[in-house]
Amino acid sequence: MSSPRKILVTSALPYANGSIHLGHLVEYIQTDIWVRFQKMRGHECWYCCADDTHGTPIMLRAEKEGITPEQLIDRVWQEHKRDFDGFHVEFDNYYSTNTPETRHYADTIYTRLRDAGLIEVRAIEQFYDPEKAMFLPDRFIKGECPKCHAKDQYGDNCEACGATYSPTELIDPYSAVSGAKPIRKTSDHYFFKLSDPRCADFLKDWIVPPQVQAEAGNKLGEWLSGGLSDWDISRDAPYFGFEIPDAPGKYYYVWLDAPIGYMGSFRNLCDRNGLSFDAFWKPDSEAEVYHFIGKDILYFHALFWPAELHHAGFRTPTGVFCHGFLTVNGSKMSKSRGTFITAESYLDHLNPEWLRYYYAAKLNGSMEDIDLNLEDFTARVNSDLVGKYVNIASRCAGFITKRFEGRLGAVDAAAVAEFKAAFEAGEIAQSYETRDYGRALREIMRLADVANLYIADRKPWEMAKQDGREAELHEVCSTALTLFRDLTLYLKPVLPRLAEQVEGFLNIAPLTWTAAWEPLPEGHVINEYKHLMTRVDPKQVEAMVEANKQSLEPTPAPAPVRHAEHQQHAAQSGEAQAKETRPADTGHISIDDFAKVDLRIARIVSASHVEGADKLLRLELDIGEARPRQVFAGIKSAYAPETLVGRMTVMVANLAPRKMKFGMSEGMVLAASGDAPGLFILSPDAGAEPGMRVK
Ligand code: MSP
Ligand code: ZN
Repeated sequence: MSSPRKILVTSALPYANGSIHLGHLVEYIQTDIWVRFQKMRGHECWYCCADDTHGTPIMLRAEKEGITPEQLIDRVWQEHKRDFDGFHVEFDNYYSTNTPETRHYADTIYTRLRDAGLIEVRAIEQFYDPEKAMFLPDRFIKGECPKCHAKDQYGDNCEACGATYSPTELIDPYSAVSGAKPIRKTSDHYFFKLSDPRCADFLKDWIVPPQVQAEAGNKLGEWLSGGLSDWDISRDAPYFGFEIPDAPGKYYYVWLDAPIGYMGSFRNLCDRNGLSFDAFWKPDSEAEVYHFIGKDILYFHALFWPAELHHAGFRTPTGVFCHGFLTVNGSKMSKSRGTFITAESYLDHLNPEWLRYYYAAKLNGSMEDIDLNLEDFTARVNSDLVGKYVNIASRCAGFITKRFEGRLGAVDAAAVAEFKAAFEAGEIAQSYETRDYGRALREIMRLADVANLYIADRKPWEMAKQDGREAELHEVCSTALTLFRDLTLYLKPVLPRLAEQVEGFLNIAPLTWTAAWEPLPEGHVINEYKHLMTRVDPKQVEAMVEANKQSLEPTPAPAPVRHAEHQQHAAQSGEAQAKETRPADTGHISIDDFAKVDLRIARIVSASHVEGADKLLRLELDIGEARPRQVFAGIKSAYAPETLVGRMTVMVANLAPRKMKFGMSEGMVLAASGDAPGLFILSPDAGAEPGMRVK
């Protein structure tokens, strides 16, 4: 192998006001596998992360809980650390952005950018809450949607009609913090001058492979060619963050110091371990620096961040590895369906290595979204890990213990050599290196199949019953265990605990990448085999989903930090960040979007008035299911219930069930209406049957 590389790896810093969930874990598990692989290869590799602790939402949440922001972020740090430990995500340092190291580098970068003429002060007018005496981020202003007039919409987009707008367009705006009517107020803001030609010139050469994936490069190129706007990096007091050294009362915007938190965390590690920070961060450093991130924060990491670093005299990342988003059973994680699963609750029900394996099997180094299909999860883990891999040891180890006092016999070196020749170990390394873990695991499972065939072919259980075949039995089992050791080695980045158990059972030193294909020595004593992994029981999965189902009562949306930070940035840069998640820009949806709506022909089995409701009728709809669906439809003004019974119509069958005062509503009936009074439900042509899909 070539000489050891020096590598610093980071995952995005999770916000310190929310729990870790299975979406986050796509990133942390993915990064952890990569880091473990590099370490097993003998490289010097450091994995740093931290909680992202600053900003308005954290300040307000602490206030609401009646604690200081410091108390809040300490508590959340403990929770996050516990969750990551639970999934065997092994950071070399898990730190916080609210630290002297991060402040130091934030000040250094800010001062250097200022001295380079890249900081500009400009007065801007914003909404201000006169009662709370604070400026309001877009997400903390609510009001009536200017397009559809839905009430209580956020300052950046309408959840009823999907329109996007700026908070000044809201009708009757009010502060979501105090309820007060916001006023407009001007104050000085500090801008990083991304519009300076020095930034665009530098970035246009930077946003290409290997710094970013080709698909990310395309996206970034579009943003760049649209022209970068200057980036507002300051916020006025009160704000939980670092005060800007030469600007009393002004604080760095959370996204300014967040990536600098990577440096802060690493600096803290260096000071504790006697490492040289400069060896990794000076401009001509030979070390490699990689950031694993989700596609929603590409803009910050592949435009703002390298531009800051470059102009502040630091090296830029070797690579930004961007991944897609998690869906569960094909849809966005949903609290009502119980698929918004926290790390903590997963661990209450299931084995963390099952998820590590499943995610790894699905990851391929691209920016595509990945789906956790819970049935497939169960099937895959059971067939691959238990059925193929663990099976090898469980079929052979017992004979060694019972018949040979735990002592291995001679290994069939020719058979091992044959496996080695048929097996693409180099490709496995290459697949891990390029984060195509799915490909690595396919190759490893292919070897598991071959090993199982070897056993099935020799039938050690029959040898064990026949006289005079002791030597053969001994050889077959010892050979199979050598192969099992190699499979374990290749799986170790993904399944570190299981690998540790196997090392204990085989009584061998911790596996490193170069240990493969050396037959286990004759006479080596192994420990008694204990069951390595149980099968996933679908009941456990069901119980987990059940435990995550939240009350279907409409709850007031919490101030979603992700959006707050996002939209602000999108607004400032006049940019397309929002486009990624919101195709509403063009007014078009894709056929895939349309296909998400499950429209069904329904027969109205019964219709009745609802006591206490002036607009609703209670309908029972047959859509070919075991029992009819109950739907409350706002059509009382137009239809007498008895005229509806027996009619066919069209319903939306996959709308999340909604608990209403009168009972559960399990779908929606479609009806037309215009400006004039009148409501008209739909009827299919003759021949349509209940349950037919409308598409
Ligand atoms: N605090 C910022 C990152 C600052 S980095 C200098 C942030 N935090 S986050 O908690 O919202 O997200 C942390 C990471 O998890 C991000 O990379 C994000 O893309 C990723 N994910 C969060 N939800 C996710 C899914 N549902 N699916 C996949 N990754 C997801 O952003
Ligand atoms: Zn609207």
